[in-house]
Amino acid sequence: MATDGERDDGVQVDLQLHRAHSARMYDYYLGGTTNFAPDREAAGQALAVFPWAALAARINRAFMHRSIRLLAGRGFGQFLDIGTGIPTSPNLHEIAQGVNPGARVLYTDNDPIVLAHAQALLHSDPAGRTAYLEGDVLDPKAVLESDELHDILDLARPVVLSLVALLHFVPDDREARSVVEQLKAALAPGSALVISHGTPEFAPAEAERVARIYGANGTPVRMRTREEIARFFDGWEFLPPGLVATRRWRPEPTDPGPGATDAEASAYAGVAVKP
Ligand SMILES: C[S@@+](CC[C@H](N)C(=O)[O-])C[C@H]1O[C@@H](n2cnc3c(N)ncnc32)[C@H](O)[C@@H]1O
Repeated sequence: MATDGERDDGVQVDLQLHRAHSARMYDYYLGGTTNFAPDREAAGQALAVFPWAALAARINRAFMHRSIRLLAGRGFGQFLDIGTGIPTSPNLHEIAQGVNPGARVLYTDNDPIVLAHAQALLHSDPAGRTAYLEGDVLDPKAVLESDELHDILDLARPVVLSLVALLHFVPDDREARSVVEQLKAALAPGSALVISHGTPEFAPAEAERVARIYGANGTPVRMRTREEIARFFDGWEFLPPGLVATRRWRPEPTDPGPGATDAEASAYAGVAVKP
């Protein structure tokens, strides 16, 4: 277990338990147990100004499930998931392999606690493969050139690139666009891009306050407008219904918060394919 800083394989990692981390705050919203006092303190502050954070997290997670299930059903068998988060079953590979048992998934996150719990991501269907890479989306070259990636994924064939609830943690617009473009450029035609992203459009005052709280706790956040988020998909073709409020992206009856408003999710989501 990770609480003492020991990884599943026995290696010590610095979990930075003295400060709040976005992955552990998100885990707290999802009802997980991999969070500590500073995370709960910061999450409590966020909930005070954005009381729907837990619902928003579940709506976001459900979008990941729906989009990955759809793409696996369309024959996609390779997935690169950046900003994986602390494992919360069903994880991406469980969804993909539930449809396509041979699916191969490379998970990447830069938070050491995700690495510490990565074992839960490695229980692959024997027909497929999963692996975990500790990596930073701000260094896409390192991710793209890693042995882990090339061991799992064949970039000559289509890949699903999943950047779910990640890019609002890259506040600089130029940097965010640059890393997404570098990742997109490395993928073969027919690849798919899955993005969800926080927005101020549906609840401006609350979104601004929650971003400020993350910033004050050491995690700068930039909420973006629909137009700004749409630019990440430039040159790729949206699958219907396009870039929409997360809960409106191909909703299913089992989705969390069936009566939720767009303000409560305060995020956009979309999937596009490389021509
Ligand atoms: C809100 S969680 C989303 C988890 C998962 N993708 C989901 O939607 O359920 C955001 C994740 O992005 C990770 N993250 C933030 N900045 C990152 C970076 N520069 N590189 C890689 N991962 C990052 C955090 O550690 C956290 O686990």
